[in-house]
Amino acid sequence: MASKSKPKKGKDKKQKKRKQKTLASKADKYELYQLSVQSPEEDVEFLANLYRDVRGTKALHFREDFCGTSLLTAYWIRRGSEYTAEGFDIDPEPLNWGIEHNLIPLGAAADQATLHTKDARLPSDEAPDVRCAQNFSYWLFKTRTEMLDYFRRARDDLNDRGIFVIDLHGGPECFEAMEEETEMEEGFTYVWDQDEYWPIPNEARCHIHFRFPDGSELHRAFSYEWRHWGLAELRDILADAGFARVDCYWEGTDEDGESGDGIFTKEEKGEICLSYVAYLVAQK
Ligand SMILES: C[S@@+](CC[C@H](N)C(=O)[O-])C[C@H]1O[C@@H](n2cnc3c(N)ncnc32)[C@H](O)[C@@H]1O
Repeated sequence: MASKSKPKKGKDKKQKKRKQKTLASKADKYELYQLSVQSPEEDVEFLANLYRDVRGTKALHFREDFCGTSLLTAYWIRRGSEYTAEGFDIDPEPLNWGIEHNLIPLGAAADQATLHTKDARLPSDEAPDVRCAQNFSYWLFKTRTEMLDYFRRARDDLNDRGIFVIDLHGGPECFEAMEEETEMEEGFTYVWDQDEYWPIPNEARCHIHFRFPDGSELHRAFSYEWRHWGLAELRDILADAGFARVDCYWEGTDEDGESGDGIFTKEEKGEICLSYVAYLVAQK
């Protein structure tokens, strides 16, 4: 009888192990990425309003290049049954995560999206009204020849009234080795790590880490090696790719005069700042 209530050695060990699980080991890197880096509602609203401003009509078919978990695609089709989208990414892992977490929860509406496990340079099933490449993903193209080829393909793939929208960042802080920590209200710290910068090729290596209150960390959850493209040179390449018009949308400044206010408007010159994010909007 006494042995019945005695905990078994193996079980005891298992319980101990469970107790030792860190927050990092239980975390989902794609969920943390979406929370830290993406603002899907604002981005989709910006893209839809942009098209209306530029073309005077509603954009219906959307294409998200380097879509990863396809979060923008999901928010695009959530706008209504007439909205459709295609996402392109070469990695099945984030695509499958996005199907499970971002598309399946939309029910039947998920059928309005088509995800392609394909290179972003390949053509769409249907010519998009709006095509975008967000979070500087297209910076993996490191030569002018490769970038021009990608932009030409993007232009040719758009419908006749389509627009192509890319984001970029710049300012002197981009060229410093530094770590920037952001405390997220969800209870973890998002770390943007500019690990290395090489001035001759203008290339950088960056990582994303996630840190947790128990001291654990998802170290290098994501890593990127890219060329740091300048706004003016990207604008020139878009023009060389045959776009009829390329405009820059520059972010306004908050009341404190220190940070961006999240409102992007068409501007010609911009202003001096340590770090900025901007959009280039190219019309076919
Ligand atoms: C930084 S993530 C972008 C995630 C998300 N779209 C965003 O805006 O934050 C970059 C993605 O590009 C994908 N990728 C890399 N090379 C690619 C290529 N040649 N064609 C399509 N996708 C590619 C990677 O698999 C990765 O999911």
